[in-house]
Amino acid sequence: MEQFDALIKKDDSGRLTIVEVPFDARTVFNKPKGTIYVSGTINNIAYRSKLLSRGGGKFIMVLDKAMQKSIGFDGQAMTANITMSAENLQPVRDVPEKPADITCGMDVLTAIKTRQSIRKFSSKPVSQDMVNTVLCAGMCAPTAKNKRPYHFIVIRDRHILSDLARHNPNAAMLEFSAGAIVICGDKNREGLKEFLYADCAAATQNMLLSIHGLGLGGVWCGVASNSEWRKLLIEQLTLPNKLEPVSVIGFGWPDEGKELNSRWDTAMVHYEKW
Ligand SMILES: Cc1cc2nc3c(=O)[nH]c(=O)nc-3n(C[C@H](O)[C@H](O)[C@H](O)COP(=O)(O)O)c2cc1C
Repeated sequence: MEQFDALIKKDDSGRLTIVEVPFDARTVFNKPKGTIYVSGTINNIAYRSKLLSRGGGKFIMVLDKAMQKSIGFDGQAMTANITMSAENLQPVRDVPEKPADITCGMDVLTAIKTRQSIRKFSSKPVSQDMVNTVLCAGMCAPTAKNKRPYHFIVIRDRHILSDLARHNPNAAMLEFSAGAIVICGDKNREGLKEFLYADCAAATQNMLLSIHGLGLGGVWCGVASNSEWRKLLIEQLTLPNKLEPVSVIGFGWPDEGKELNSRWDTAMVHYEKW
């Protein structure tokens, strides 16, 4: 882990708040190519981000609004103490032929009964193998006529997560989640809206259960039709017309413990007739 004092300031355009990394991150973090994802603290406040290359071994990190607020940046340059480690994430676009064979010790009924929505996350990164395991669980869900009309968009970019969090109070937890998965229904593959939503919902629940089984935490964020958030998702993820964003899962390592109540309710059970 690197520790240094650096100036937090506006960039030349005045639009971005940045910190210049005072060393060649490729050499120091032994990352000869690809995006360098980093995590650490700024004045003891945890962050996860990626570095932007400025050429010649120079890198900057852009601070989002939430981070600026947390450290009390008011637009005037300020010195901060920064710790920084490279995160060992595979590049997100490396989709393997087959996901790693990860299993968990939790039986299916325990997983179903003990899963709860987790909305607080630690800054610990989640490996790409785990994400692939979760994606695979989504792809194992039943679908009408086995059409499998879904696509999954994994978001790891802190700026996108932050943007999505800031534009929907019900998804505010994405600001600190390790990532998000957007479950999109393919309208060209499934013409019946009811089935499209049912198929995506089944995939979403499978993924939430696998997240829980892996010891991670996750939460389902709904996407209301005609909401501004849906429009933002379409724009941010450059979704083509055929794709409908149905749900968003925020995931990460849990940073909250929740009391587990029984959800059995006899009033919901009926035999033969209403
Ligand atoms: C369709 C759907 C939409 C949801 N949308 C949100 C949401 O936008 N934000 C959120 O924090 N939780 C959301 N949830 C999670 C529910 O709030 C949560 O599942 C419910 O309160 C029960 O809690 P549990 O998941 O811990 O059992 C959603 C769940 C579903 C099924």
